[in-house]
Amino acid sequence: MAKTIGILTGGGDCPGLNAVIRAVVRASDDQGWDCVAVLEGWRGLVEGRFEDLGPREVSGILPRGGTIIGTSRTNPFKMDGGVDKVLQNFDDRGFDALIAIGGEDTLGVASQLFSEHQLPVVGVPKTIDNDLSGTDYTFGFDTAVTIATEAIDRLHTTAESHNRVMVVEVMGRHAGWIAVMSGIAGGADVILIPEQPMTVEAACEELRRRHARGKNFSIVVVSEGYELTYASGESRVVGGEARATDQFGHVTLGGVGEILGHEIEQRTGFETRVTVLGHVQRGGSPTPRDRVLATRFGLKAAELAHAGQFGQMAALRGDDVIAVSLEEATAQLKTVTPEWYAVAKAFFG
Ligand code: F6P
Repeated sequence: MAKTIGILTGGGDCPGLNAVIRAVVRASDDQGWDCVAVLEGWRGLVEGRFEDLGPREVSGILPRGGTIIGTSRTNPFKMDGGVDKVLQNFDDRGFDALIAIGGEDTLGVASQLFSEHQLPVVGVPKTIDNDLSGTDYTFGFDTAVTIATEAIDRLHTTAESHNRVMVVEVMGRHAGWIAVMSGIAGGADVILIPEQPMTVEAACEELRRRHARGKNFSIVVVSEGYELTYASGESRVVGGEARATDQFGHVTLGGVGEILGHEIEQRTGFETRVTVLGHVQRGGSPTPRDRVLATRFGLKAAELAHAGQFGQMAALRGDDVIAVSLEEATAQLKTVTPEWYAVAKAFFG
């Protein structure tokens, strides 16, 4: 009898998820394995909601954004009897392996299910935030940076025509990777991130310095997780509401751009406008780079599952796709290093 792999996608949707699903299904079909979608992340395994996934179902999905099998921020460890239901449904559906595609939360659950319950699971790292350790890059990140860079390029037009400061708020949660990379690529004049909290006063000083040099417009990129920090030592996160649909305890972020824009205008007198990119950064078709990375991760995950090498995650190191342990990959967040921030800072002001 053919062996069966379950596939689930968890956490925020991300460009490239469908490319992974397609690669796993195609590689498994070649090896005589069946694939089954677990619908809406861990929730599908708790509730026993499945759909068959064959080469026909994955045909044409490579360039599609989002995930054709749905996603959620369900955490079985936070539900009454959740883990027991996961294990029961896994057995009842006759799964031999599970491929979990997700970020720190989804893969954290996978890691715990493997170590505590020996669930035969393999991970694939996805997130636009690029904050997973164990891999040099996650897929989805390149698309988000491309979208943010294009937005910065477009905002330059209005900045220059109207002599304005344009503040762009980007996603990334507690990691400033999207801000740093799109800011460098888009030629931002100040970039504010959670890891290196520059003060509001220092940011304004950079803008004044730039204007004193004869440039009467500026671009400021701010990461949603940047804490508004003042020379007095005061600092605060903007947002912070808990969400019922998020069982991992994440709070909503967003809104720092608006406050920062107001502060800049008040303190410098430069007319300022704010743009919040939001979920546009996660939407639509993946870039070629993300399609290729997602495809390679999918092939690696399928290979690991077929070989019975569980508790592992596909990861990019240099130009190679390798396997790392889920435990190592989810142990800590990968945040922006001082070296990377120094590259960005070389162009401030
Ligand atoms: O982790 C991806 C991400 O887009 C973060 O950058 C952002 O903070 C969060 O998800 C937004 O989550 P939601 O889609 O639930 O609002």
